[in-house]
Amino acid sequence: MRPYARLGLLVVAAIVGGCATALDESETAAKTAAALKASFRPAGQAGLDRLEQDETQRACSLAAGKAPPKDVAAMIEQTNLATIRYPADGKLLGDWKNGERIAQEGRGKQFSDDPKGPVGANCYACHQLSKGELSFGTIGPSLYQYGKLRGNSVDVQRYTFGKIYNSEAFTACTNMPRFGHKGILSEQQIKDVAALLLDPASPVNQ
Ligand code: HEC
Repeated sequence: MRPYARLGLLVVAAIVGGCATALDESETAAKTAAALKASFRPAGQAGLDRLEQDETQRACSLAAGKAPPKDVAAMIEQTNLATIRYPADGKLLGDWKNGERIAQEGRGKQFSDDPKGPVGANCYACHQLSKGELSFGTIGPSLYQYGKLRGNSVDVQRYTFGKIYNSEAFTACTNMPRFGHKGILSEQQIKDVAALLLDPASPVNQ
């Protein structure tokens, strides 16, 4: 069975096999989804398809902000790991200067943005990355000196590229977007941001 189908079964098992509370929760989730759909209208590139949850998101919604059960977490990570497409040319790092621009840029996917324009990743909205930038969010851990602390081995490069490509592959139900999996960033953009984290010359490692 494909991992995605198995994850679906686990989610169903969690609902059916669980107690009455689980059933109530899934009913509430369905009502919430209907209310959301009724109150949003599509605009520009922001269509109502953005409200559709995939199996991972559904499983995480069922966990309702808590850590999901261990077997569900393992299945989410396995399913998402299988989606990561590593670069065919084997090069995992790009240009850190471009990466810094991408990490700073929050525009690209909003309804008012040109769908043909460049898309940013807004990494700074959740992470500290460099010492120079004073305005950053703290939803995610500080990544300042990320490369200096971990080194630049192929394993570290693969983890970093993969984490940015699909964060759920390593931490089930994380708040971090799945930049490659969801088509937010291109392969080259992910390479550039990975270089921002790992290049010794990048401001992250000063
Ligand atoms: C909406 C918030 C959010 C955004 C935007 C975001 N992240 Fe994260 N990130 C997190 C959270 C939360 C974690 C910790 C949980 C986890 O590991 O997924 C995290 C973890 C990470 C980790 C793992 C750190 C470790 O110690 O192994 C890396 C690497 C990372 N983020 C890089 C990035 C990069 C690069 C970007 C921009 C392309 C980015 N993140 C954008 C929230 C975010």
